[in-house]
Amino acid sequence: YVKNTKEILDKASREGYAIGAFNFNNMEFLQAILEAAEEEKAPVIVATSEGAIKYIGKGDIETGAKLAVEMVRTYAEKLSVPVALHLDHGRDFRIIMTAIKAGYSSVMIDASHLPFEENLRETKKIVEIAHAVGISVEAELGKLKGIEDNVVEKESVLVDPEEAKIFVKETEVDFLAPAIGTSHGAFKFKGEAQLDFERLKKVKEYTQIPLVLHGASMVPQDVVKLANEYGAELSGAKGVPEDMLKKAIELGINKINTDTDLRITFVAYLRKVLSEDKSQIDPRKIFKPVFEHVKEIVKERIRIFGSSGKA
Ligand code: G3H
Ligand code: 13P
Ligand code: ZN
Repeated sequence: YVKNTKEILDKASREGYAIGAFNFNNMEFLQAILEAAEEEKAPVIVATSEGAIKYIGKGDIETGAKLAVEMVRTYAEKLSVPVALHLDHGRDFRIIMTAIKAGYSSVMIDASHLPFEENLRETKKIVEIAHAVGISVEAELGKLKGIEDNVVEKESVLVDPEEAKIFVKETEVDFLAPAIGTSHGAFKFKGEAQLDFERLKKVKEYTQIPLVLHGASMVPQDVVKLANEYGAELSGAKGVPEDMLKKAIELGINKINTDTDLRITFVAYLRKVLSEDKSQIDPRKIFKPVFEHVKEIVKERIRIFGSSGKA
């Protein structure tokens, strides 16, 4: 269990690979992610959103953050790979402070919905506090939204590399999430998948810090098909193709946020197991095969990101 996510990501940035940052909301997802990382001998980042902290704490953020830290610490102590616990999309000052106090390795301040100057000011404030206690910070520039060919739309949604340069210098943020055309969830692109690699290349050149790709799930079509076969309604679900992830890593992405792929895998196999073993009422026997598949998808992602064997 490492105290600082920065060490893991700086190494990835120097050596040109990416670390998986996987979201969890409960013990089973956390176990699956950590087992996958251990088997792949890969450093890993586990992340909770603000919603996850509230969910774990049943509405009480101190309880949620404390339980997240204790769960991660207790499991990670037994592992040989570095594990960092990260706050994903921190927007609420109180939740960010609670995560820092509870023992998170790093926090994200997501003020990307605010105008540039305000985003910069908010981010700088969090960086000052977090750095004073040895915790690293991620921020975001631009908006996570699939892009169309429309140039005007593109400029208003995607990161401006010149702004990124100023932002990183002024805020001293440790990692940056530049919006280059991905979006959260299972429906990322209306037409063809499209990312702005030129922009990404410039942001890396101008900032020289680890970069983060949000909304990076691949949304594997075989898993979507399986889920639909067992009654899910996920037609049209689409993610980021493998070659695009690899290109993004080549151009400087070092942290790849993945949540949807784990969620889809969970739902697909939960539906399958329940429909095939209709007399099963032991949740442990239902979850065991389901989370084997979640673990496998995490291992597949870690291999694609290039962090296998980097622990
Ligand atoms: O940022 C998005 C992550 O998938 C977490 O989402 O707010 O539903 O926990 P959430
Ligand atoms: P996905 O929805 O593509 O998994 O993205 C997750 C994410 O960006 C979490 O911050
Ligand atoms: Zn995200």
